[in-house]
Amino acid sequence: MLRRYALTASIILFGTAAWSDGDVSDASEIEVAETVYAVEDVDLEVAAKIFQKSCRACHGNKAQGAASYPKLSDKEPQYVAEKLEIYRSGQKIGPNSILMIQHAKKLSDEDIASISVYVATAFD
Ligand code: HEC
Repeated sequence: MLRRYALTASIILFGTAAWSDGDVSDASEIEVAETVYAVEDVDLEVAAKIFQKSCRACHGNKAQGAASYPKLSDKEPQYVAEKLEIYRSGQKIGPNSILMIQHAKKLSDEDIASISVYVATAFD
């Protein structure tokens, strides 16, 4: 519980800093692309299950990546969420985006919020 609170606090700080040139009046929300993820949406247990089932096979046991599968564990939650949203919308980023698009399409907004915090923080 304590750990989860600490993670939550760090994304609030990051979110505020990243968008500090705009009007960030409510620090309990993180704005990524068009979607606002509330910190309450983050559930690390759900995220761990999604990761084991749908991400680990390519990105590695500790999200460390391999060959053309990018490392995720060194990214910020906002970065991961933004990429997942782009893939979910069907847009390509790199040459192998098709692999991600099919996985991202299954993710809800809550899934994206959770998995983004999870991969960025669980393997430190
Ligand atoms: C079938 C293999 C595969 C699976 C399964 C998979 N990925 Fe990926 N992932 C890739 C590849 C390949 C790329 C690079 C795609 C490209 O060229 O745009 C990628 C890219 C990403 C990126 C962007 C990284 C960056 O640095 O730009 C994120 C974030 C990501 N994946 C998260 C996930 C998450 C979360 C899951 C589980 C829900 C997942 N991936 C499942 C293969 C996979």
